[in-house]
Amino acid sequence: MADLSVSFAGLRLRTPVVVGSAGITGTVELMKRAEDAGAGAVVMKSLFAKEVCRVAPTPRFRILRRGSGVQRSFVLYSYEQASEWGPERYAEEVRRAKEALSIPVIASINCLTPEEWLSYSALMEQAGADAVELNLSCPHGPHLMEGHDVTREMIEMTRLVKQARCIPIIPKMTPQLNNPPGVAVALERAGADAIVAFNRFTGLEIDIETERPIMHGGYAGHGGPWALHYVLRWLAAMYPALSVPLAASGGVSDGEDVVKAILAGATAVQVVTAVVVGGYEVIGRMNEFLLRWMEQKGYGSVLDFRGSICERIVPMEEVFREHVLRAQIEEQKCRNCGLCMRICIYDAAQPADGAYRVVPERCDGCGLCVELCPTKAISMIRR
Ligand SMILES: Cc1cc2nc3c(=O)[nH]c(=O)nc-3n(C[C@H](O)[C@H](O)[C@H](O)COP(=O)(O)O)c2cc1C
Repeated sequence: MADLSVSFAGLRLRTPVVVGSAGITGTVELMKRAEDAGAGAVVMKSLFAKEVCRVAPTPRFRILRRGSGVQRSFVLYSYEQASEWGPERYAEEVRRAKEALSIPVIASINCLTPEEWLSYSALMEQAGADAVELNLSCPHGPHLMEGHDVTREMIEMTRLVKQARCIPIIPKMTPQLNNPPGVAVALERAGADAIVAFNRFTGLEIDIETERPIMHGGYAGHGGPWALHYVLRWLAAMYPALSVPLAASGGVSDGEDVVKAILAGATAVQVVTAVVVGGYEVIGRMNEFLLRWMEQKGYGSVLDFRGSICERIVPMEEVFREHVLRAQIEEQKCRNCGLCMRICIYDAAQPADGAYRVVPERCDGCGLCVELCPTKAISMIRR
């Protein structure tokens, strides 16, 4: 049987699938649900030094762009706040979690001054946390909202906390960077034991009736299955540049996504939105899928395929650019809706006898009509 266990920042995880930091890991009882569902570790809801962030407004969740039949494209737009607790009470919960759970418990802190980073991380260490995530990346937290130099602070605070603590230190990056691999390398040099890529994007949704921001009236975090591709893209660029392990975070919705994140270089895969909207059971299904996929492929361990996609990324100069394919419409399947004609900028789809057909010499072979045809009547063939 394939072995799902991985070593992440010096911690042994029974599976790479980790429940990431959010309200779903806010208490021991919730973390226990994650453990019972099969999680390899839990990252606790963040403790913020900035006290105003500890009180949540209501409501604070909206599902945007919920398309029937396109369920994988929704946006979870939310303004969930920090843990409601101050440092002492939070540390007490870490202690309780360590007693109640057998999987690693990773604390998460969000501080503003060097003194806070040092004292909060010390409290977490004393309370028995297996590691600490440094969260300077909350999409509506003080670092991004108040114009901090997030990259510089993240590197400096990683160095500071690492020098002072014995437990693993895991900075969590914002996705809002122009050079994530460069930042990840700097974090590794600063002493990071692992890196989380990424937190969510900051965002804004507007009610056009009231002409105001929805919900609490400010910016919010937004994420969803769509974010996966951004995460995979940067994991694949970061993995070859790093020695420390990466945790994927962003858009992982099912077992296939877990496999993709590992292929792109992740050692651990954090899941939040999928649990928020689907319940903790999604974790078990991810583990089952991963196990089955590894067995089908003949992989004994996650290390057998981690990061294997990286060397298969084709550089820009080597992309095959010859137009050897063109579209073809199967008349029997065509319902004559005309969508292909409306969207084809090459005028290659033309009406013919109650259906549409492709004019071969006009077709550029771009493949868009194949993707959009509602009856799947179009396919690509060699010219
Ligand atoms: C409701 C909600 C609350 C979150 N709270 C935190 C938090 O307190 N600390 C943190 O580091 N990340 C927090 N996150 C970010 C998640 O840990 C995760 O990095 C992000 O949502 C991307 O993963 P996903 O696509 O699986 O949700 C939160 C996300 C959501 C949706």
